[in-house]
Amino acid sequence: MMPIAPLMIEHRLIERMIDVMKDELLLIEKEKKVDPEFIEMAVDFIRTYADRCHHGKEEDILFRDLGGKKLKDEHRRTIEELVEEHRWGRKMTGRLVEANTRYVQGNEGALSAIMDCIKTLIEFYPKHIEKEDKRFFIPCMDYFTDAEKEAMLKEEWEFDKSLIHERYRNIVIASEKILTARKLNPLI
Ligand SMILES: [Fe+2]
Ligand SMILES: [Fe+2]
Repeated sequence: MMPIAPLMIEHRLIERMIDVMKDELLLIEKEKKVDPEFIEMAVDFIRTYADRCHHGKEEDILFRDLGGKKLKDEHRRTIEELVEEHRWGRKMTGRLVEANTRYVQGNEGALSAIMDCIKTLIEFYPKHIEKEDKRFFIPCMDYFTDAEKEAMLKEEWEFDKSLIHERYRNIVIASEKILTARKLNPLI
């Protein structure tokens, strides 16, 4: 298996979530209301799966190893664009989180901000994925030997294995911080 195979399989799951978000947006537009729990679930998917797990492997393994090769200008430029798009996606997800918080607090402008963020994200991901799948991943494999590809694939499995532990370690750390803050200020 080539190291781009797991990344392409992950793209298919991200596309399924994007389809769900498309349908959810139609519902929000029709009903003029949001299910904040749905937004939290979508944000968790984007942050944990699409960004940490998927973009993480792209940036920390594939792009890192491509960085050690003598790349064509076109491919070097594409890596820069993709990294920038990952950053942009993080920023947009942060805006969705803020809008959802404002919505829960009863802010009037929050509904349209949520709709804008979802619309932007569902337009962004398919284009980003198409760029990687159709114009980048496959030609990039020519830069690597079979042994290098094998090592990358192995590193991807190891990356995935450590993620669940990282995620729940972070949850414990965040919970400890919340508890400490509550103890210091019981009014929170
Ligand atoms: Fe990407
Ligand atoms: Fe990707």
